Amino acid sequence: MRNLKKDFPIFKYNPDLVFLDSAASAQKPQVVIDSEIEFQSKYYANIHRGLYDLSAKSTALYDEARNTVKEFINAKYFEEIIFTKNATESINLVATTLAKDYFQDSDEIIITTLEHHANIVPWQLIQKFKKIKIKVIPIDDDGNIDMDAYKALFTDKTKLVSISHVSNALGNILPVKEIVSIAKKKNVLTLVDGCQAVNSFKVDVQDLDTDFYVFSAHKLYGPTGIGVLYGKKDILNSLPPYQGGGDMIMSVNFSKTEYNTLPYKFEAGTPPFVQAYGLKKAIEYLKDIGMENVYKHSQDLLDYAKKRLLEEFEEDIKIYGDVKNKVGIISFILKDKKSNIDMIHPHDIATLLDEANIAIRTGHHCAEPLMTRLKIPATCRISFGIYNDFEDIDKFIDKLKSIQKFFRR
Ligand code: ALA
Repeated sequence: MRNLKKDFPIFKYNPDLVFLDSAASAQKPQVVIDSEIEFQSKYYANIHRGLYDLSAKSTALYDEARNTVKEFINAKYFEEIIFTKNATESINLVATTLAKDYFQDSDEIIITTLEHHANIVPWQLIQKFKKIKIKVIPIDDDGNIDMDAYKALFTDKTKLVSISHVSNALGNILPVKEIVSIAKKKNVLTLVDGCQAVNSFKVDVQDLDTDFYVFSAHKLYGPTGIGVLYGKKDILNSLPPYQGGGDMIMSVNFSKTEYNTLPYKFEAGTPPFVQAYGLKKAIEYLKDIGMENVYKHSQDLLDYAKKRLLEEFEEDIKIYGDVKNKVGIISFILKDKKSNIDMIHPHDIATLLDEANIAIRTGHHCAEPLMTRLKIPATCRISFGIYNDFEDIDKFIDKLKSIQKFFRR
């Protein structure tokens, strides 16, 4: 794959930046940055609200963005793509609307130990209204799902399985198709959080057969402030609205409101239509590169980084989620056996790496229960974007070696 750094102005303005935190948020290519200026300079007017040409143009571009997303994840219908603020809001939308009529007290949902907070807390919030029980699929020390334990969690009260496609903290790709298929056989709804998947490989929601699929644009090289909720049409149709306001209505009077059809029923208020245009540009940019090339590049970086880390640090490095099927994320802890140091604190490592303008994420990665399961307070996490290269990894490892020496007693 050609070196893509020159497409990303962040590297022009920060020439020595080694950015290894794309799982938190990806950098933006020039085409995405330009898209917001282009839209607001040439086409800007509120959508669905003006009987004039500019509003019609703006509305058409919003529709085009929805179509681009539909094709990107191979949804069947235009109406199945709902624009939200981010993946977190998409999950909150599903949780809140299911809590209104679908869930009954004592119903059960299943999540995994790997989930980040966005797929835990929304379900806890609705427990205030519906006394649902949250059951958790256990994992082994490498982060693999215990499939037998998963099957054993089902009862006649199970109503939903909500899982990550890829663990944000470890990078492990979950056997989502199998997990969904088991739930489907029991007539249980499924939600898949694809934040760290859509940016790494081709996702086909019809093939997965999941009822809901969510992701954020900002991890997909697109703008902040916009996310996607995919839902099967008949299921979205059966849900009540999430928020009330303009655009989600057909008619309003003071005693009664008739709601709009899909997808607008779930898009109350002026939506992020400028950002939708940016998301469309991001998807087109990725399609141009080819998702198979995006995946291959991340695997090349992953293999190289893992090989170098193990060569340089041997017994002193512990990689969490060291499995075959994963995206470009490595979570690890660095020790120094010579000095009897069991863990150089990840926050110290991040701070010292920053001296060399190397950006990584450390901490619990919004997945505290996972850290508790792994019996660690935090990890260092490096995550690759399409702009990273082997030289970035070499610079990171050189600095990491000097940090280990710094702590040597
Ligand atoms: N969930 C994001 C991450 O993994 C913020 O860093």
